[in-house]
Amino acid sequence: MAEGQVRVLVLSGPNLNLLGEREPDVYGTDTLEAIHERLRRRAAALGAEAECRQHNGEGELIDALHAARGRTAGVVFNPGAYAHTSYALRDAVAAVSLPVVEVHLSNVYAREPFRRRSVIAPACRGTIVGLGAMGYELALEAVVRLARESGGG
Ligand code: DQA
Repeated sequence: MAEGQVRVLVLSGPNLNLLGEREPDVYGTDTLEAIHERLRRRAAALGAEAECRQHNGEGELIDALHAARGRTAGVVFNPGAYAHTSYALRDAVAAVSLPVVEVHLSNVYAREPFRRRSVIAPACRGTIVGLGAMGYELALEAVVRLARESGGG
């Protein structure tokens, strides 16, 4: 990473490795790797770097958030279903003191009632839902701008 360049962690949670084949009517037909590739290109165009990761386990996601401390300017985070259940991930987001933008591909407010609440959202800087893969790109741009506004690159 060039000096002064903003590095952003793009972190996706459980079952998102199956994008492309998983409920395509809900989540679209892009694979996660295709989304990651677009994000890496978009980040480069913004003079930044996207580091893309996916984990199915809650503990691995917590470890990835901890590891982002001191080496990334912020996080684009799709916690998957953990958004609705995981106080441990909410605490991890609050603990790392990085701008975290929560993303959901689908419009969680238009789906089953259990999806309408994110326990992680209150610890996040902002949330983007329902815009499909574009939501990841918008969140990436938001994190880069937030980092630059706070003098982080
Ligand atoms: C999701 C929404 C969650 O409710 C669901 O459990 C997912 C995907 C989304 O991106 O729309 O796994 O996070």
